[in-house]
Amino acid sequence: MKFLAALLFCLAIPAAAAPSADNGAALFTDHCASCHDHPTGRIPPHYALSHLGPDQVYRALKTGPMRPQAAGLSEADLGALVFFLTHQAVGAAGSDPAANLCAKPGGPIDLDAPGWNGWGRDLENTRYQPDPGLAAADVPKLKLKWAFAYPGSQAIGLPVAVGDRLFVSAVDGHVFALDAKTGCTYWTFQAASAVKGATTVGKIGANTTALFFGDMTGSVYAVDAMTGKPIWTAKPEPHPLAQIRGTPKLFEGRLYVPVSSDEENASADPAYPCCNFRGSVNALDAATGKVIWRGFTIAETPRPAGKNAAGTPIQGPAGASVWSSPTIDVKRRRIYVGSGNSYSVVENEATDAVIAFDLDTGKRLWVTQATPHDTWVMCVKPGTGNCPVKIGPDFDFGSSTILRTLSDGRQMIMAGQKAGIVYGFDPDHDGKIVWQDKVGLGGAFGGIEHGMAAEGDRLFVAVSDFTPTIAVPADQLVPHKAGGIIALDPATGKSLWHTPAPDPVCSWGADSCSAAQAASISVIPGVVFSGSLDGHLRAYDTGTGAVVWDFDAGHSFPAVNGGKANGGAISGYGQTIAGGMVYLNSGGGYFGPPGNALLAFAVEK
Ligand code: HEC
Repeated sequence: MKFLAALLFCLAIPAAAAPSADNGAALFTDHCASCHDHPTGRIPPHYALSHLGPDQVYRALKTGPMRPQAAGLSEADLGALVFFLTHQAVGAAGSDPAANLCAKPGGPIDLDAPGWNGWGRDLENTRYQPDPGLAAADVPKLKLKWAFAYPGSQAIGLPVAVGDRLFVSAVDGHVFALDAKTGCTYWTFQAASAVKGATTVGKIGANTTALFFGDMTGSVYAVDAMTGKPIWTAKPEPHPLAQIRGTPKLFEGRLYVPVSSDEENASADPAYPCCNFRGSVNALDAATGKVIWRGFTIAETPRPAGKNAAGTPIQGPAGASVWSSPTIDVKRRRIYVGSGNSYSVVENEATDAVIAFDLDTGKRLWVTQATPHDTWVMCVKPGTGNCPVKIGPDFDFGSSTILRTLSDGRQMIMAGQKAGIVYGFDPDHDGKIVWQDKVGLGGAFGGIEHGMAAEGDRLFVAVSDFTPTIAVPADQLVPHKAGGIIALDPATGKSLWHTPAPDPVCSWGADSCSAAQAASISVIPGVVFSGSLDGHLRAYDTGTGAVVWDFDAGHSFPAVNGGKANGGAISGYGQTIAGGMVYLNSGGGYFGPPGNALLAFAVEK
């Protein structure tokens, strides 16, 4: 806890010393424009950065993914960059995080009420809500009940509903406990950096209900879910560029924490000795944060591997980050994760793979690789620095695997890859591929980015296909344009229905208006929900794929905590359904305007 206090002190936002936009423009040209004025791959375009809140930009540079790019810049330089991008000074943004406090303290948190706890809602990551408090026939009658504006920060992550509370987080590191019915604020907590995944609620001992989450500095937090008071902070992976984007899973008193990193961004610097980070799952004691085991996706320790084009010594294998929430197989006592690309030219079989670990010991049990030779780091000028001679397609498994029992009693692990391919893996035969189905074009933004959910004998897959970066033979193009949602048979991978995305119409105009469905999807009996980069949240009939409800969330809405909640492109972790309500973060994307809106829908009684 001392550690936490010290960390927050160091990160305290400095008083703005009248930064100059001119100086900011020059700094941007020198340090940032090579990427943000020529966006490729995952680089957000310059205009998207201008839509972010000043504190978010500051934290991205100070403790977030842009740490390597901002290394060596003074506080005054950071202030000038923030002012140039957002036209606001650091610390000047938005409403007070503690505005609209609830009039009365909240009662006990009912962990047994049918909520949505964690990223996947269940240990198997189905994102299926069997008891939504909402019938399929009610969905067309959903109306916006209230909106909440993340103060000065982009909406991201997934709202988590437990008992009568809603836990949400923002890119500036704020975590909020709200009243699930009214949106009033019970407490706020400031993490060191962005909390991009979902939170998870569980018991520590008999008396404490804790909220667990990770941030972009690689720290994991347990705070009292009633008060927001810190319980412990841990940094399970000591690598300086470690980050936590996936949501930890809580099971039997252990917190299973997935770790990814910024090393692929840091490698844009030719002087960076790329690369020695390996993705991992870490089992922590939920009561203390102590690491019980760490399982690396890549078994081998990185070793020297010659020099890069600039003469900097390099190393490997590296990469295979775990970007998503692990899946727990209670029956076999295993934990499954999907991994990302390689960072290093040293070959390895654990990148772009699905990997099984022993739940009790962390021993790596099997690895099934989908795409070999996928070396990808941020390459600004091919042939220089750390750019691989042959740059890979960046075909991560960015989203969680789903474990499902089929109607004949067999089980299937299913995973969607950025290549646009969905796979069924056999958990009883070391992850052997049973089927695969290409549902999208594939590319650095997915193919399948986050969007899969399963109900009964259907697997639902949302297709992103935003700016495809690879050429694919014409006969494999399914579908031909961005977006769309598909239902597959989990036993065979055969398509049951396919609803293409409508031509996108965006409330902000034609610029950056895409039909890509990159966000996570969620399903209740009879209806599957999927958000789009065009700012719309749509609900589809699970039997036919017909659109039964369409809400344009790309607008501004009056916010319960003052001012306006600005919606934008829908990306990231999607919507949460519990207690008769649907919660949506609008504006989580960079491709289409970022926004700061949390929207809560219910049927008008
Ligand atoms: C080598 C390429 C590169 C350079 C140079 C670079 N960026 Fe970035 N930037 C990226 C990428 C890639 C992302 C997306 C990072 C991610 O999501 O992990 C990003 C994301 C961001 C974000 C959003 C971060 C968030 O909170 O999610 C901000 C703000 C940003 N960059 C600002 C800057 C500024 C200011 C500079 C100059 C000091 C800079 N960047 C230099 C590649 C670059």
